Amino acid sequence: MKFLGYELTGHLVAASSPATESLSNVKACAANGAAAIILKSASSTRLHDEKTRRCYIDEHGFWAESGFDREIMPLEQALLLTKQSVEQCNIPIIPSVTELTLEPDKWLEDCQTLEKAGASAIQLDFFYFHNLLCDNSFNSKFISLLKEIKRNTMIPIMPKISISIPAELASYLLVSAGIEYVSLLDSIHVPKPYNSYLLGESLSLFGSFMFQITRQYTYVFAKTDIKICAGGGVTSATHVQDLILLGASVVQIATEVLLNGFSRFNQIEKDFATMAPEDMRITSIRKRKAFFYPENCTNCGKCREQCFCSVVHELEETNEKCEGCGLCASICKSGAIKMIET
Ligand SMILES: Cc1cc2nc3c(=O)[nH]c(=O)nc-3n(C[C@H](O)[C@H](O)[C@H](O)COP(=O)(O)O)c2cc1C
Repeated sequence: MKFLGYELTGHLVAASSPATESLSNVKACAANGAAAIILKSASSTRLHDEKTRRCYIDEHGFWAESGFDREIMPLEQALLLTKQSVEQCNIPIIPSVTELTLEPDKWLEDCQTLEKAGASAIQLDFFYFHNLLCDNSFNSKFISLLKEIKRNTMIPIMPKISISIPAELASYLLVSAGIEYVSLLDSIHVPKPYNSYLLGESLSLFGSFMFQITRQYTYVFAKTDIKICAGGGVTSATHVQDLILLGASVVQIATEVLLNGFSRFNQIEKDFATMAPEDMRITSIRKRKAFFYPENCTNCGKCREQCFCSVVHELEETNEKCEGCGLCASICKSGAIKMIET
């Protein structure tokens, strides 16, 4: 499949994380079947807040605490890592940049430096804005920033979204800025757990609970023409399939690889390739049926091409043969098919 203008060898992308912060890790991702690699985020900004990285795993997920300087690579380091990764791995290498301002200058400096180093595309990481929406002119500043970066770079850019921007707003902003690719979904900022004395005040939480949020963002972005690199809570081929059915082009993984090793790329890709069409249906069957609203139908035909049960074209008000997978409704951009609990 094609993503960011490149023909990829598989569906799985190595997400930006410690698994992509050194040359040996990048090579391990590539050797174990990642189809593209998003490098650990980098910045020309330094805060001098060096802290150790602390992690903690419990039944809720993977808690992590770290300072900006410890977490975010200096730009020079990312430049070298980009050059070496491009030379030594034959797959798209996507450095990730982050800045602490909505003014374009620093972002452009970072992007242009990494573009010159041979980057295939650039991810724009907005994770360090904890409270984006409290700025009244956030929408217009964000749109101008994205437009400015896009105008001044030759390679594709891919903003990374976290839940600090609600899905509908995020898709509106990216469409308004003419963005073609999106990276979903960054981890979630949380206060420290009440029963832990080990960790600081503000933490990131990663875990399989994120998957349903990832689905919702994927579903919302799939209504636009933006191509999606979806992730967050993905641990299995069933998850990959679910996101692809919802409209993602590729799927990114971090925590599953950090916890269970680089071989997870090949294993999940292999499981995904061997999933039978029946497995696809089982993942999302519920007691619901597709209802058709002909007045909204534009006759684009996409639902007919993809419908598993081949009944969409026979839908009247509802259809007894419908298996309730919801694929047709998620594909329909004009609101002509809705899933109703029966
Ligand atoms: C320890 C750790 C560090 C991370 N650092 C970054 C980062 O620098 N830049 C970024 O865009 N995402 C970063 N992420 C977020 C992941 O790329 C991913 O969006 C998130 O973990 C959700 O996916 P997952 O459930 O597969 O882990 C990090 C994740 C982890 C676990």
